[in-house]
Amino acid sequence: MDATRLAGKNVLITGGAQGMGAAIGKHLAAQGAKICIGDLNLDGARAAADEIIAAGGEATSVSLNVTDRESAAAAVAHTAATFGSINVLLNNAGINKPMFFLEATQQNWDAIMGVNAFGTFLCMQEAGKVMREQGKQDLPYKIVNVGSILSRDAFIDSSVYAASKHAVLGLIRAGARSLVEYNITVNGYAPGVVRTEMWEQLDKELVEMGLFEKAGTSMDTIAANSIPMGRYSYPEDIVGTAAFLVSSDSDYMTGQLIQIDGGMVMA
Ligand SMILES: NC(=O)c1ccc[n+]([C@@H]2O[C@H](COP(=O)([O-])OP(=O)(O)OC[C@H]3O[C@@H](n4cnc5c(N)ncnc54)[C@H](O)[C@@H]3O)[C@@H](O)[C@H]2O)c1
Repeated sequence: MDATRLAGKNVLITGGAQGMGAAIGKHLAAQGAKICIGDLNLDGARAAADEIIAAGGEATSVSLNVTDRESAAAAVAHTAATFGSINVLLNNAGINKPMFFLEATQQNWDAIMGVNAFGTFLCMQEAGKVMREQGKQDLPYKIVNVGSILSRDAFIDSSVYAASKHAVLGLIRAGARSLVEYNITVNGYAPGVVRTEMWEQLDKELVEMGLFEKAGTSMDTIAANSIPMGRYSYPEDIVGTAAFLVSSDSDYMTGQLIQIDGGMVMA
């Protein structure tokens, strides 16, 4: 691994205390990026930052609720103050709580849309404003949003989540067109089925909904029936594409969402 590939990249990762966000933080830091982990779970964010530091990287942490404008602005400001500037925002925070379409409640809609869609939008706005104020640098500023297979498809158990992740794709496109004048690119990646804490919870809920018979079987069943590559993924399958989108290798790209799903969605 090239320890200097991402030198000069000062990155805020939202929801980076665990799962994919934490793995991406470690991977980017190992290539020279400076990482601010922002999360609702501050203890978890601190632990993730400490792991990066213990491995020889540079990191800090901040309490962040992506649905709260002041909190988002403070996390962006903390990143810029700690590292001298912010030039990458990785909008990773996300939640799901599956419900069938006709039973999904307003509370379900507000919670999922609040974090996945509005939270992504708020953080794009707050980071975008600071990037605009920082002025044009030679290399583009980067916003990387996390979509899903459900950014371009839908399952019967997760209608609101699908709507929220389609919104993420819309925000990638709207942001790309709107922020290009400030030298900000907006792209994203769309994981499929990734073994993280989110899926541990989802597995139980899908059994409660009667969609799978036994706990612990959903991921393998989906892999066998719906993933052309025949296996589900781990955060390690995702980190390389995230690093590509943060790196200068993707400087001439904007408005794109890359699928990383073993072939589930061929867009
Ligand atoms: N796991 C999958 O199979 C999968 C597939 C496709 C997309 N995704 C997306 O990838 C991203 C990461 O997923 P993961 O599986 O690592 O999830 P995870 O549940 O393991 O981690 C999500 C993190 O986000 C934080 N978070 C939640 N709400 C927040 C808020 N309001 N403000 C700040 N932080 C908040 C949580 O505390 C947690 O640390 C999410 O956007 C998710 O929707 C996951």
